[in-house]
Amino acid sequence: MVVSYKHEPFTDFTNPENHQQYKDALSRIRRVDLGKEYPLVIGGKRIYTDDKLESYNPSNISQLIGRVSKAKKEHVDQAMDAAYEAFKTWREWTAEERAGVLFKTAAIVRRRKHEFSAMMSYEAGKPWGQSDADTAEAIDFLEYYGRQMIELGKGKKINERSFEDNSYFYQPIGPGVTIPPWNFAFAIVCGTTVGPIVAGNPVLLKPSENTPVIAYKLIEVLEEAGLPKGVINFLPGDPGEIGDYLVDHPRTHFINFTGSRDTGTRIIERAAVVQEGQNFLKRVVAEMGGKDTIIVDDDADLDLAAESIANSAFAFQGQKCSACSRAIIHEDVYDEVLKKTVAYAEKMTVGDVATEDYFLGGVINQKQFDKIKNYIEIGKKEGELVFGGDPDDSKGYYIYPTIFGNVDPEATIMQEEIFGPVVGFAKAKNFDALLEIANNTNYGLTGAVISNNRAHLNKARYAFHVGNLYFNRGCTAAIVGYHPFGGFKMSGTNAKAGGPDYLLNFLEAKTVSEIL
Ligand code: NAD
Ligand code: ALA
Repeated sequence: MVVSYKHEPFTDFTNPENHQQYKDALSRIRRVDLGKEYPLVIGGKRIYTDDKLESYNPSNISQLIGRVSKAKKEHVDQAMDAAYEAFKTWREWTAEERAGVLFKTAAIVRRRKHEFSAMMSYEAGKPWGQSDADTAEAIDFLEYYGRQMIELGKGKKINERSFEDNSYFYQPIGPGVTIPPWNFAFAIVCGTTVGPIVAGNPVLLKPSENTPVIAYKLIEVLEEAGLPKGVINFLPGDPGEIGDYLVDHPRTHFINFTGSRDTGTRIIERAAVVQEGQNFLKRVVAEMGGKDTIIVDDDADLDLAAESIANSAFAFQGQKCSACSRAIIHEDVYDEVLKKTVAYAEKMTVGDVATEDYFLGGVINQKQFDKIKNYIEIGKKEGELVFGGDPDDSKGYYIYPTIFGNVDPEATIMQEEIFGPVVGFAKAKNFDALLEIANNTNYGLTGAVISNNRAHLNKARYAFHVGNLYFNRGCTAAIVGYHPFGGFKMSGTNAKAGGPDYLLNFLEAKTVSEIL
């Protein structure tokens, strides 16, 4: 019997026992795992190539996490063969049987939770609580999509007539490609892989070049749970070398992408081209960036506002598509909210999260460090630097929480995705003006309203144009099944990960009608 879905609880690290267990997991990885070599996985076979990706700890840049084999185009072809072979039988498994593999995977991950989370602290610079939430989200995707597939496996009721037997059911579309980002190094890799898989479609997974080791851990655990060979194929590599090839491949049925707007729009464009020998249309899910705003009304709880802004802007170094990078405040409470937000930022610690529970670790790599640093320089010209603003890459890629005040809502730092711990403040005269500014970017992913005015909340419900809108809380931390996630406008295809319609992206519906 399958019990009803509930999301995975988070670990309380103020409990000394939990704190010690996480430290033990970190030290075990240091002793046993660091610096290992990892292969490609094609049809269950391990393949080591000479050319390797090297993955380092962003908070301690001399610490090697692992060396991971790089796939070439020939490996993509081999993986496609393996996936097509596996599809012949995997599609015949019942929804319950396929879901069973996900439930078993969830149980294994739950038992060894800190092992996965601690690896993210090393490889992605993810602070403990954030890593723990990432692993919990991966468990949630496994549990939730398993249950969703069991429901969809029953088909849907359609109209009947006395002389006809009509049925409507779902079937998998065929092997495809999953291309995740590095920032939810376990959760998004897991969700975007097991979604299509539980729907019956074998996957070629090309993990991010920044976090391939934690992605490999997912492959191991899926195999341990009994996923048949070839249903998942692991193809880390250089996106410049195999990215287009995977997308353009005439045998790719779908591309399940999460990442930047530039890469996403490129994939959408390329996937629209029908290649020689291709006799179906490719489906593309492209969940992309954000420029997310919290607006604060004149009657709001100002402590709640400041806490929500600081946490949404700076947790995991601001490297979330959902992160708050714009705080738009009613002019009557602007000074106070800014002062209180600075007070929260002052308390945030920065350091190597693979050694201690700091609030921020290093940002993911040199390129991202340089990009954020450049935006900070732009911000100094566009607004007043109120807090932070001193990047330091001597040991890790550290950017301290940074706050700019009095920024024009049209300024570069208020319009472009920075993907770092930087937030710009602006003020407005009334609630309509707050809303207007909130909507004035090309993105439409998340947003939040801090207000005690019911009429204003009602107005924002429809007028604040984002896929995930939150009232009286921050704009990050969606929970699978409770807050289906995906954006409007240039934030993506609004696939709503962790929602009741997500698996339909990887299924085709069939109607069968018989005259009686
Ligand atoms: P990215 O676009 O650089 O990379 C994402 C993935 O695409 C990686 O696996 C990368 O190797 C691959 N890739 C790069 N070029 C490719 C190509 N030409 N063809 C095929 N694949 C290619 O993004 P990133 O830096 O990994 O992630 C950060 C971005 O992701 C941010 O913009 C963030 O907002 C976004 N994001 C969105 C969501 C969401 O749900 N909307 C969630 C997390 C992150
Ligand atoms: N789903 C993630 C969040 O809500 C991106 O923060």
